Amino acid sequence: MDDDRPNLEPGFRRETLPDPEAVGEDEALVARLRQEIETSGPITFARFMDRSLYEPGHGYYRRPAPGPGRAGDYLTAPEAHPIFGAALGRLLEQAWDELGRPDPFTITEPGAGTGALAAVLLGGLRDLGSPMLAAVPYRPLEREQERLTAFRDRLAAWGLAGLLAGDAAPPDAAETGAVVANEVLDALPVHRVVGRRSGLRELLVGVEEGRFVHVEGPLTTPDLAARLEAERVVLEEGQVTEICLALDGWLTDATRHLARGVVILVDYAEEPTTLHSPVRRDGTLRAFARHAVGGDPFRHVGRQDLTATVDLAAVRIAAARAGLHAVGETTQAELLAATGSAELTGAYLRADTSLEDALALRSALVRLMDTRGMGGFRVLVLGRGLPPGTGLPALRRLARPGA
Ligand SMILES: C[S@@+](CC[C@H](N)C(=O)[O-])C[C@H]1O[C@@H](n2cnc3c(N)ncnc32)[C@H](O)[C@@H]1O
Repeated sequence: MDDDRPNLEPGFRRETLPDPEAVGEDEALVARLRQEIETSGPITFARFMDRSLYEPGHGYYRRPAPGPGRAGDYLTAPEAHPIFGAALGRLLEQAWDELGRPDPFTITEPGAGTGALAAVLLGGLRDLGSPMLAAVPYRPLEREQERLTAFRDRLAAWGLAGLLAGDAAPPDAAETGAVVANEVLDALPVHRVVGRRSGLRELLVGVEEGRFVHVEGPLTTPDLAARLEAERVVLEEGQVTEICLALDGWLTDATRHLARGVVILVDYAEEPTTLHSPVRRDGTLRAFARHAVGGDPFRHVGRQDLTATVDLAAVRIAAARAGLHAVGETTQAELLAATGSAELTGAYLRADTSLEDALALRSALVRLMDTRGMGGFRVLVLGRGLPPGTGLPALRRLARPGA
């Protein structure tokens, strides 16, 4: 890579849209799931989703083939253009400033995947000449260790390997720094429930004539009803929605080591009023295979991603339980606008920028700032041990007062 140029990965603009039907399914995983159900009875959808995504060696995120990425199944925002990383980097830099520029300022990334976010975040800070970079050890965490090999390779290709802090588990409640997670919450397993006049019922996964099917049954845990009650949501007859109970434990674990700092969560997320609205009778569960969105979670088992829109109210409750306070919220589009798209684009659009790179920047900005698409992704900023009243300029456009 030319040192003088911003970091555009090789093959960045390659568009390949392979046939989603060709992905097949993981037959061994299908057999295991079928056996579990035939032996013990229907399982929760959360269990089905957890095994479909995370069964060692077989789940969608536990196999060697690429997942997120241009050649994979869908595109996460960092892969659209490094300017997304630069904007997030600016946000982190403002938090670092508020904290008095601590050194070290360790950035931990749970669900780091193959390094798409880390590369553009650290690369973006480098492109902007950020002084924070000298204080940053970067710690990726993954459920699948193999993905960390690809992570290290990617950072090395970007000339950023020197910033890696290693991938050992964080220490106990001792660090000053940040926790950043991009599109991880939507990949946590969800339960599915359906409204009935007689009350809430759960959609379990059974097997009929060798095929996975939804089977309606009583709730497997009262926590499901409690979550909807806390959000004052009553489902209509036949209305289906998803509930992520894994959120609380995940957020507590992911931030346990953080004594002072910020937590930045980026994901597609909605308020419960729209998320569980009767207009959405079938919930938000989606399956992604090779850039095609499908609605059937029982196809391409182990070979397609499963995801559901994140419930913002549930995240706020989980944050309070984890001892984190709200710093602010914004959207990806507003973050890009507020961090000064002029300054950021200046770093990527210079006199010597090729026309091709300039056009790539323009189309990425259109995509990243489209509020009906990636631009509408939420950016939630939580804090622990921050000076009272801390407000970050990057959040000014849509900042939500501390809850
Ligand atoms: C949609 S991918 C996002 C990857 C990456 N953050 C990015 O922006 O490209 C979700 C990632 O979260 C990881 N993951 C899910 N649950 C996790 C957990 N409890 N701990 C660590 N990683 C997890 C998955 O293995 C997967 O790599």
